[in-house]
Amino acid sequence: MSKKVVQFAPFLGAEEYEALRACFERNWITEGPQSEKFLEQLKTLTGARFAVLAPNGTLALYLGLRALGIGPGDDVLVPDFTFMGSATAVEMTGATPVFCDIDRRTLQAGVAHMEAALTPRTRAVMPVHIYGMTCEIGPLVAWAHARKLLVIEDAAQALGVRFRGRHAGTFGDVGCFSFFADKTVTTGEGGLIVTDNEHCYSALRLLRNQGRMDRGSFIHPAVGYNFRMTDLQAAIGLVQLSKLDGIVARKQALLALYRERLAALPQVRFIAVTPESSYIPFRVAVYAERATELMKFMEARGIQTRTFFYPLHRQPAFAALRDDPGRRGQFADARFPGALYAFEHGVCLPSFPSLPLEDVHYVCDAIRDFYQG
Ligand SMILES: Cc1ncc(COP(=O)(O)O)c(C=O)c1O
Repeated sequence: MSKKVVQFAPFLGAEEYEALRACFERNWITEGPQSEKFLEQLKTLTGARFAVLAPNGTLALYLGLRALGIGPGDDVLVPDFTFMGSATAVEMTGATPVFCDIDRRTLQAGVAHMEAALTPRTRAVMPVHIYGMTCEIGPLVAWAHARKLLVIEDAAQALGVRFRGRHAGTFGDVGCFSFFADKTVTTGEGGLIVTDNEHCYSALRLLRNQGRMDRGSFIHPAVGYNFRMTDLQAAIGLVQLSKLDGIVARKQALLALYRERLAALPQVRFIAVTPESSYIPFRVAVYAERATELMKFMEARGIQTRTFFYPLHRQPAFAALRDDPGRRGQFADARFPGALYAFEHGVCLPSFPSLPLEDVHYVCDAIRDFYQG
């Protein structure tokens, strides 16, 4: 009888539970003192001048795009290799996501990839920091700004991650984060937008709070919506932030053990890290020979694996866009060798802070058995 090793489990404990109880005792559950404290700590962590919370990472990206004035008629460059939410946030504004390829070694999109995907209607680019490292964000933002393109950084997976010592999400015009259950710090669902631009900050505040700067008034100077979080989530987030160093150390220890145990297997290669980026492994991501067979073998041993992302240019959800005669060329497989390679060969191994080291050994034993018989 094999055991069960899941791909991921949220890392919550008695301290988060206690923080929730304190909200109930204070009888303050909507956005309030905990949210303010959470925001302050996030500003300190990232070094951003301004920040607002959002209900999740997808809506954080949507708000960031809207605050910069992106909408119908605009094209926004998005890496082909990212979570669907990066692209649907663009679609939600009425703009069109246009996909660019990635470097298969690091899984990140760089200047050359974006340059190759430019269209006459490109108004903005969305660099995504994938799998716990940054892309080459410094050169990318310099390139985009030189072309008067706006930059919305998708740092959903990159809380705590830095490029040349500067926090992910603080290079572009806006940066967006997610606190979904599988993120380094979670509030269940949740998001964050950071910016150094005061005008953009004002636009964000109006958009997220029914067109008002504050609550308590029924006079709405602008059209806005409800994109707030709750104090219940912020209270959990504060506890999670206090555990961040431990979470990071544990993720790095798990990766180190995986690296050590799999070092002798030529059939398995770890993804490379962007030079000058720090690394908080979001997934333990490897390229494996006969990846599909390996995953089936591991599943039979009770080990939950995941493929890498399915290339966005092939997503069934974008069929209408693909069929647009004016855009057909943008969707040719030949434009995306990196993203296709990653999907076909990538395997995510179980990794989360409470994963016992003995389970990592169990997973590595299974991989060795697969290749060595
Ligand atoms: C790269 C990336 N972008 C955007 C999102 C969307 O965030 P959320 O799930 O909080 O809406 C995610 C979430 O998994 C993500 O990984």
